[in-house]
Amino acid sequence: MVRLLIRGARCWPLVLAGAGVLASYPAAANGPATGKTVFASQCSTCHSDARSRPVVVGPPLFGVVGRPAGSISGYPYSSAMKSAGFTWTPDRLKAYLPAPRDYLPGVRMTYNGLKNPTQLDDLIAYLQTLK
Ligand code: HEC
Repeated sequence: MVRLLIRGARCWPLVLAGAGVLASYPAAANGPATGKTVFASQCSTCHSDARSRPVVVGPPLFGVVGRPAGSISGYPYSSAMKSAGFTWTPDRLKAYLPAPRDYLPGVRMTYNGLKNPTQLDDLIAYLQTLK
């Protein structure tokens, strides 16, 4: 009995260590911090995320969530984007970003799309912090 108890006690650290390993590799999205790195690798060649809203190749994305599509004044949007007629919400971004030119035929965003659903969730979480 005593030996059993000791053996049981010895097992706990292993069980806890195992749970810790699982907890550090979640299958779910990681959030805005990871989203920032996704932005850096996928979007920043064409878009700025800076508060000062500079135009790079594409329109600035600071404040994009909650903004009507095609609404940065002076940016030469395609007519497809100008007449999109919706406001960017997390759901719209989730629909648009995996295949931009399928979602809005005629847009000039020559980007094939972000297909990885975890990266997409992280990226959208990051875009929501740009306000
Ligand atoms: C190769 C350049 C390029 C890349 C890479 C790119 N975009 Fe774009 N993006 C553009 C251009 C150009 C437009 C304007 C499209 C138009 O007017 O048809 C645009 C438009 C947009 C818009 C609409 C903004 C508005 O003011 O209505 C969003 C949102 C957007 N991009 C998000 C992203 C995100 C997020 C990424 C990264 C996953 C990304 N883009 C990657 C070039 C790019």
